[in-house]
Amino acid sequence: MINRQHFGKRVADFRRRLGLSQAELAAKLGVSAQAVSKWETAAALPDVELLLELSRLYGVSVNELLEGNGLLARIASRPFQEKEGIACFVPAATAPEIIQWERDMRTEGWIARNWRDAWGRPGGWADSKYGRNVIGERSRPNNLRIGRKIAEHGGVILDIGSGPGGGYMPFILQADPSAQIILSDLSRTVVEEWKHLLDRELDSPFLYYAALDFCDIPFENCTVDVIADHGGIINCIGDQSAALRECYRVLKSGGILVSLNGFVTKETLAALPEHAQQALWEEYPSIFNNLYEDTVLAGFRKIDSIITDVWTTDEDESDIAEFARSLGITIQFTEYVRLCEK
Ligand SMILES: C[S@@+](CC[C@H](N)C(=O)[O-])C[C@H]1O[C@@H](n2cnc3c(N)ncnc32)[C@H](O)[C@@H]1O
Repeated sequence: MINRQHFGKRVADFRRRLGLSQAELAAKLGVSAQAVSKWETAAALPDVELLLELSRLYGVSVNELLEGNGLLARIASRPFQEKEGIACFVPAATAPEIIQWERDMRTEGWIARNWRDAWGRPGGWADSKYGRNVIGERSRPNNLRIGRKIAEHGGVILDIGSGPGGGYMPFILQADPSAQIILSDLSRTVVEEWKHLLDRELDSPFLYYAALDFCDIPFENCTVDVIADHGGIINCIGDQSAALRECYRVLKSGGILVSLNGFVTKETLAALPEHAQQALWEEYPSIFNNLYEDTVLAGFRKIDSIITDVWTTDEDESDIAEFARSLGITIQFTEYVRLCEK
């Protein structure tokens, strides 16, 4: 079934992107301005020939105008199963610890809490048994700033490892409610939960949903304008250098990878007691990888790193913070955003 409202919003959005009024679009297609207005307000659909004309004029496929996941069908490099509006390139999780994590995420409403915090609305973590998310609150202005930057770049935005926080997506949408964002994660449950929430909250025809592995992105080369990574690659299940190479491959020339990472500097490590250094190396080796070398090796020609925060495990409730407390130490993380241009 064609969602006429979504179709109308797409027609209007692509028209505005071309800087055309309804009357100007109508003149190009040889129809009345009233006909265009009817399409855009979901009162009517154009006939097949006009649809074809419209898709040529907009430079998109007919499917992209008509279907929820038309954009994904155009850029995908392999077939996928579509389940309730989600393009599934990977199977549902089977590992017991991931299934348990997905269950906790659902029952404790992590996604809704993160969404409300991102918008500064009540009902976030402050109203839960866990209390305020201090680091999250502190990072909000930076997230909003980076979200604006991504929205200004525009085009097709792929948010990878979106996770229960939704990556940069909530912040991009605050800058541009009709940003074209593909929300993605290895966990289907994460993607499903976000789709349920966003369908309720925004019902945007410009949001797309994919369960995919960012170490093996199932898209053709040079098909995406921005990749937004809000701490996904640094917490990657898989090979981080492969993830960066894949990001480079699917970005268009001039496209950007925006990557947020927190890591432990060599100086911080050296200041820790020896037993703690060794335990951390064994348990959490990735926290010492700042990914810079891998980013260069992936091919990015311009890389700007901006330090956005310095935080310690004393302020945090994560597994690693608990581990640090069990070792009797405090670990300091340096967090930065890297803007990498292809
Ligand atoms: C710590 S979260 C990242 C933070 C998240 N962007 C946010 O804003 O809350 C890590 C997420 O990345 C996902 N992930 C890890 N490895 C992945 C991979 N290879 N491909 C896709 N998603 C992955 C996990 O499923 C998880 O949801």
